[in-house]
Amino acid sequence: MTFERSPRGDKPGPASVILPGKTIGILGGGQLGRMTAMAARSFGYRVQVLDPDAACPARFIVDSCITAPLTDASAAAELAKNCDVVTIEIEKIGLAAMRAAAEHAPVHPDARVLEIVQHRARQKEWLVARGFPVGPFRVVRSAEELRKAAEEIAPSGESYLKAAEGGYDGRGQEVLKSPADAEQAWNYLGAEVCVLEQAIELEQEISVMVARRPGREVAVYPPALNHHKDRILDWSVLPAPIPDKLTEQARDLGKRIAESINVIGLLAIEMFVQKDGHLMVNELAPRPHNSYHASERACVTSQFEQCVRAVCDLPLGSVDVLRPAAIVNLLGDLWLKYPQPRFDLALATPEVRIHLYEKEVPKPGRKMGHLSATGATPQEAVGRVIAAKAILDADM
Ligand SMILES: Nc1ncnc2c1ncn2[C@@H]1O[C@H](COP(=O)(O)OP(=O)(O)OP(=O)(O)O)[C@@H](O)[C@H]1O
Ligand SMILES: [Mg+2]
Repeated sequence: MTFERSPRGDKPGPASVILPGKTIGILGGGQLGRMTAMAARSFGYRVQVLDPDAACPARFIVDSCITAPLTDASAAAELAKNCDVVTIEIEKIGLAAMRAAAEHAPVHPDARVLEIVQHRARQKEWLVARGFPVGPFRVVRSAEELRKAAEEIAPSGESYLKAAEGGYDGRGQEVLKSPADAEQAWNYLGAEVCVLEQAIELEQEISVMVARRPGREVAVYPPALNHHKDRILDWSVLPAPIPDKLTEQARDLGKRIAESINVIGLLAIEMFVQKDGHLMVNELAPRPHNSYHASERACVTSQFEQCVRAVCDLPLGSVDVLRPAAIVNLLGDLWLKYPQPRFDLALATPEVRIHLYEKEVPKPGRKMGHLSATGATPQEAVGRVIAAKAILDADM
């Protein structure tokens, strides 16, 4: 849909600076694009998105939506022609579409970064080649290769088989209990190239968000502590209540990866904390990340505002935490159980706020929104979102 608007932008700024009044394009119009667009709008930017779904969550926030596949190069070029800068909210953008957009406007992050991260095997090999810590893994292309790989890296334990491309929220993954599950897991997943990972004994999962602007200024958020349920992020809290030393190690690792890959915009680094306290990189995402939704409540600068600042080459905002905050995801399962969840009851919990993405169709495991809460401590903030979610689940 396209709305009428007055001519955009007026006075030009320095070369890479995109001043408010100009137009930001976002490849992808899901919840991450929606919340980035909300931050952009509050700065006075115009926003356009491209998304395959005409009913995408960003649609009410933006000036116009192009409805086209994320691999459509001519649609991406069309978007970029009307924009002063283009960013992304999802990794699954076709590289040809990224390059076509880049002919008309700066695209941050660029196709080179996306090429590395959107393929799990390439991403892991990139990390290993630069000495960043990752768990034992093998790239496999057949059931037979999978069985051999499982015998090598997880002869008597579990392993995770992940499609090299296209997975999210634990989709495109299978857990092997032992190498004997190889054939069944391979057939079930049906991908051409996969990565097999040894199941790591996790003490905790954390993530680090890094923002970089074209002049190379960098901002590294404090780590978030993340709790997954059925391989989908359940709740997340900022700052992670972990020892200072681990916080510093995680921030340093995140910063080094962002600098090494030379990303402009955001880079989220998901990390595993092993039982012995060592850090391992799980995966990279060069965009806003579910585990930093709490930055809207906790930090001086939210990840969405920071994304806008970084891609528009504005000074990065402070990443300081003003008050601990947590989020809990709301999945489609809730709506399938109760078509009208009782948000009125949940909102009675102190310091709780709701964030809904206006998705029309609830599906099991589909992220429809989240609850956030602040608290005097990270533990109190988590307690509040979990209590508020329990009220929704109970429909009291
Ligand atoms: N090798 C592993 N060892 C232990 N746990 C794992 C391993 N790989 C994945 N997991 C668990 O499954 C979760 C999802 O895995 P991963 O991050 O690879 O999937 P994803 O589909 O990309 O998820 P998302 O898009 O939500 O980040 C991890 O956060 C972790 O809880
Ligand atoms: Mg993940």
